[in-house]
Amino acid sequence: MEKKQLHKLLEQMTVEEKIGQLVQLTPNFFEETDGEGEITGPLMEWGMSKQELYNIGSVLGTHTISQTHQIQAAYLKNNRLGIPLLFMADVIHGYETIFPIPIALASSWSPELIEEMASLSAVESAEAGVHVTFSPMADLVRDPRWGRVMESSGEDTYLNSLLTAAYVRGYQGNPNKLNENFNKIAACVKHFIGYGASEAGRDYNTVDFSDLALYQDHLPSFEAALNAGAKLVMTSFNTIKGIPASGSQWLLKEVLRNDLNFQGLLISDWAAIAEMITHGVAVDKKEAALKALSASVDMDMMTDCYQSSLKELLKEGKITETTVDQAVLHVLQLKNDLGLFEDPYRGMKGKQQKAVTFSDSIQSTARELAAQSMVLLKNEHLLPLNSKKTVALIGPKAASQDILGAWSWIGKQSQAVTLKDALKKEYPDLLTAETDSLTKITSDEWETIKRVAAKADIVILALGESSEESGEAASKATIRLPEAQEQLVKSIKAINPNIVTVLFNGRPLVLEEIAENSSSLLEAWFPGTQGGPAIVDILVGRVNPSAKLPMSFPRNTGQIPIYYNHMSTGRPVTQQNKQEKYISKYIDVANEPLYPFGYGLTYTSFIIEDIKVSSTQLTEDTKIIITVNVTNIGRMIGKEIIQLYLHDVSAEVVRPVKELKKFRTVLLEPNQMQEVKFEITVEDLVYIHPDLKKSADKGFFEIFIGTESRAPKITEIEYV
Ligand code: NOJ
Repeated sequence: MEKKQLHKLLEQMTVEEKIGQLVQLTPNFFEETDGEGEITGPLMEWGMSKQELYNIGSVLGTHTISQTHQIQAAYLKNNRLGIPLLFMADVIHGYETIFPIPIALASSWSPELIEEMASLSAVESAEAGVHVTFSPMADLVRDPRWGRVMESSGEDTYLNSLLTAAYVRGYQGNPNKLNENFNKIAACVKHFIGYGASEAGRDYNTVDFSDLALYQDHLPSFEAALNAGAKLVMTSFNTIKGIPASGSQWLLKEVLRNDLNFQGLLISDWAAIAEMITHGVAVDKKEAALKALSASVDMDMMTDCYQSSLKELLKEGKITETTVDQAVLHVLQLKNDLGLFEDPYRGMKGKQQKAVTFSDSIQSTARELAAQSMVLLKNEHLLPLNSKKTVALIGPKAASQDILGAWSWIGKQSQAVTLKDALKKEYPDLLTAETDSLTKITSDEWETIKRVAAKADIVILALGESSEESGEAASKATIRLPEAQEQLVKSIKAINPNIVTVLFNGRPLVLEEIAENSSSLLEAWFPGTQGGPAIVDILVGRVNPSAKLPMSFPRNTGQIPIYYNHMSTGRPVTQQNKQEKYISKYIDVANEPLYPFGYGLTYTSFIIEDIKVSSTQLTEDTKIIITVNVTNIGRMIGKEIIQLYLHDVSAEVVRPVKELKKFRTVLLEPNQMQEVKFEITVEDLVYIHPDLKKSADKGFFEIFIGTESRAPKITEIEYV
């Protein structure tokens, strides 16, 4: 449809029809109107008429293709102008096929793999009639107590931005051709903004940070998503500068719409508009609606604030019809971009659906992605496993299908391939001692464990959490595994010290005990449908692990928030002063995490040498080329991620001790060497200054290159 026609359509709409377009509800609202009987259920609770229901703009969270089809058909029969519904869903890490959780995907440090995952998620969900996914989550996270870190790309702004953009490209393809490509869906980047900084890691809690933090840490990933063409943005639950995001005109109109030039559909998070009342900044739904619409929120997710108040607000002249029209146009525009006016059933292929969804090729990509996401945290020579050894698989996660992770609402646990099933294929004589509970080992279970652990050469111990222990509304004050699991490692060690621990979890954990008592430690995260085979690929060495942590693993919960790119302090702890008292340190635990950002082992070894720096002086129009030679000095082909960090030592504003600026991935055969080249320009030196503008300070910058964030300093350059 031409833009002109959209305006014509708008002209034909009544005020009620316009307001309806700004409302999003769940499918159960439709169930209550089946047949001719009276209105019951949520419709009745909300005092909504059937006609009002058939004016709404969007539905979130349908479960099946037939449900989606049915709702659209019933809706179109009853909608006067035949404006189709927009179906949105939380397709976060796959639809029917579940890929690893986002924090795991981020561990691959691979925008390419993430783009592929998003693209396959789009194929499966588009076939079920989904038009929009509430992904990617671009929130920067530095507190592993917050359950939603599982849905994030971690603690670094640069990596977060790269990966967030990759999700958008994968879901949408060419954002201007969504009406031609029905294998694609629109992306909704969320949560604008700062949700990841919830105080004390408690979900839905207060957020308060400086403008500098907003612009330099939190905004870039959203900017990257918008530059990649994200069609929608979702507001966050939290406050920014004391105002709930969904009602902040400064944040949404000035920063998002104006500065970032966002012209797409802005949707509130679930009930976030009504929550302004509970926040204590709106007396009732009407005031909440006024604040949200005035801040340019187009769509109200799951409250009746807009539905019940906009008409009255119009009558009272508190909002104008132009403001309402603008919001409606954003909704109609997205429907048009998706080609819904031409085909309201876009993408749905009915019976043929199964031909693609959950296909063998998607399963094999899921397996590959999972293996690329697993981080080898420790390896004292047990891995890769020797095929001649006797292996015992023990623990609560050994045969568990709870390996999909949160936000897998369509994916079925029954389709997940367990570690036990996959390992049996490799070791038909596998000894097993599965345990039932995550928090308790029974005495019968312990008897079997003792027996198999004593018989085996190597114990694979599968530990972890349930999917419900991370995700939304799953904050934790203690991020250790249950005592029973920590005790299990210790007890087995007394019988057989050759322990390979495999972890299934959704956030960085405090692992000191587990690490100390395991010879090898593999962070498998929640690896998704093909988790079992992917873990085995790593254990037996078919895949050489190469993933790197996107978030620090603390030694102790008291260290949180802990992230590698913290600010320089006036009293930093150093090798020389660490015994002194009045320096920035804990007296009971080291400052450093157990496993830092960027860390992850492989089965081979790499050396970085022959560092060459083209010049140590940089001007506005020149660049510095840094080259290093990377050699695989081990015995297996392997991937390594070479990371370049920078520190501004003579800045106007206090800067992070280190910031990731670039990274390169190399894949090398044994003894193979490759030159890796980094270019530094002024662009790499700029940061947000107190005037909230980007510029670079003249002076010195330290450069660090290595295979993790503890990378050594290799040179110093000067911007002149
Ligand atoms: C609330 C969550 O915060 C958001 O991320 C999600 O997309 C919506 N619910 C819809 O399910």
